[in-house]
Order: sequence, then C-alpha cells, then structure tokens
Amino acid sequence: MTPAETLVCSRQFERVCEILDDFHRDPRRLIPILQAVQEEYRYLPEKVLAFVANALDIPAARVYGVATFYTHFALAPRGKNMIKICDGTACHVRGSNDLVKAIKAELNLANDEDTTPDMLFTFETVSCLGACGLAPVMVINEDVHGLLTSEQADEFVRAVKELEQQEAKA
Ligand code: FES
Repeated sequence: MTPAETLVCSRQFERVCEILDDFHRDPRRLIPILQAVQEEYRYLPEKVLAFVANALDIPAARVYGVATFYTHFALAPRGKNMIKICDGTACHVRGSNDLVKAIKAELNLANDEDTTPDMLFTFETVSCLGACGLAPVMVINEDVHGLLTSEQADEFVRAVKELEQQEAKA
C-alpha cells in the first residue's frame, strides 16, 4: 500500500485505527484487536483485515488464518441480533432440531439462509456451549435460555422481534 492509499484507508477506517491504537498496534494482540473490530462491524470485512495486517506489519495470511480459525469470527455480514442454537450431542438428543425448525420458520429463513434480509437477525447452530444440563440451549445475543421447547424458543425470538419493531417506530 502506498502512503497515499494508507492515508485514505486510515480515514475510511478511523475506528479501526482507534482500536489498533488501543492495543498499541501490537501484533501479539491480534485476537483481541479482531474481536474489537468485529464488535464494531459485526463481522470482519476483507478490506479491514487487509488494513489490520498492513497496520500491524504482519502478513495478511496470518490475519486471515486467525480470522478463519476461530469460529467466533465471522467473515460475512451478520444481523444485529445473533441467535445460536446448540446442536451438541445433549442438545441434539433433547430436540434441538425442533428448535432449529421453529426459529428458521419464525425468521422466515430458507435452509441455506442464515441472515434475514433486513439484517436484524442471524441464526446459526453451534457445537456444545458447555451448558448440557440445560439442553436444549439457545443463546440470543448474550442471553442463554435452556430447557426449551420449540414454542418457548419461538416466544423468545418473537419478543426480540417485537422490541425491534418498537425501536423502529420510536
Ligand atoms: S450439547 Fe448443548 S450445551 Fe452441551
């Protein structure tokens, strides 16, 4: 990247620059840097990853390697609300599939879709969340809900949808 391009990028990614500065542009802090960037964008845009690599003076392949290794990182845009259903063994045995069907129907998502067109919800199944005693488990943003029936899971999602509708009207 030429110095001029770097300047344009810096302006374009002002918030990323602040994050980099918060971590003293230390390549050893790559993971927390990427976590903070993802909090900002809700995912890790390709351009930003390249910018981070350049700013930290490390190979882009290393940044991509970290971003793709950890399932926590998303390389595609995500919705405002994140809904996860555990499909680990305990949850699977206790009916997580029914929850998946109910939530996908509630969000009107086709089988190959995970984000609603209005970008309000992203849905995904995850492996064991470490709360097997509460199986089946669903997490909406930071809130964990356990021992769920598909009707209860549906209600929780509907409550978030209603909140979003109220916010949109306000
Ligand atoms: S299998 Fe779902 S929390 Fe462990």
